[in-house]
Amino acid sequence: MQNRIMITGAGSGLGREIALRWAREGWRLALSDITDGGLQETLKGVREAGGEGFVQRCDVRDYSQLTALAQACEQKFGGIDIIVNNAGVASGGFFDELSLEDWDWQIAINLMGVVKGCKAFLPLLAQSKGKIINIASMAALMQGPAMSNYNVAKAGVVALSESLLVELRQSEVGVHVVCPSFFQTNLLDSFRGPTPAMKAQVGKLLESSPISASDIADYIFRQVAEGEFMILPHEQGRMAWHLKQKNPQMLYDEMAIMAEKMRAKARSVSS
Ligand SMILES: NC(=O)c1ccc[n+]([C@@H]2O[C@H](COP(=O)([O-])OP(=O)(O)OC[C@H]3O[C@@H](n4cnc5c(N)ncnc54)[C@H](O)[C@@H]3O)[C@@H](O)[C@H]2O)c1
Repeated sequence: MQNRIMITGAGSGLGREIALRWAREGWRLALSDITDGGLQETLKGVREAGGEGFVQRCDVRDYSQLTALAQACEQKFGGIDIIVNNAGVASGGFFDELSLEDWDWQIAINLMGVVKGCKAFLPLLAQSKGKIINIASMAALMQGPAMSNYNVAKAGVVALSESLLVELRQSEVGVHVVCPSFFQTNLLDSFRGPTPAMKAQVGKLLESSPISASDIADYIFRQVAEGEFMILPHEQGRMAWHLKQKNPQMLYDEMAIMAEKMRAKARSVSS
């Protein structure tokens, strides 16, 4: 029976809600994050929801911490059936303002964290014929203005997921990639960018979501059960993606107008 799941970034937001959704099905969970407080709270909720598991500190930038987590899953659960590469951070700022350090930081967590998670757990997933769920973003598909480093990291997660989907089919390891639009979590706490004005604009976008992290976790659960590869939880996101595939130029034009408006707003806040 498949019932062992590992989640990175499980101490908050979407990671916590994914944990609770799978816990309700009675799964055993390996919960990891960089801080302990949020993890303990998630574990408490998991137990109340009918699941069981353990927590382990793991910074997804450090491959040795991910392999240690994989080892812990093997020792405590005898293997793993699903991994969710969810840990992530927010960033924003126009390309000319972003430093190379901003780029390194973003790529190290949001892209290489997923690469390392897949690599560390692949031997166990190959044994169980398990599944990888990578949390990307609509940013991977739409390339909104003033977040090029985030867009690139998340587009990399989609490209990695597509590559693995193809390469791992023969070994019967399933792959899913999730691209939500903005939704309310603690993501803004991790925001890094050159201007406070940009952080405020991202904050407004997070608040604008018609669906919650819990709705998204439930949608992911159902779409994974149906074997859907690319999971787009927001209806607006599904429409925008459809439109972009049909008429990309129209989307680029809209994004360029949006970029102009954002620059004007940022200028008015800073003057
Ligand atoms: N909230 C949104 O609008 C939104 C939209 C699209 C995609 N996403 C993605 O969803 C995922 C979850 O984000 P969230 O919105 O729940 O935010 P969140 O900040 O509430 O949760 C992210 C978690 O990741 C952890 N984390 C950060 N850096 C880490 C590291 N180096 N190693 C391990 N853990 C680390 C944080 O401690 C936090 O608990 C992220 O990958 C994010 O990019 C979020």
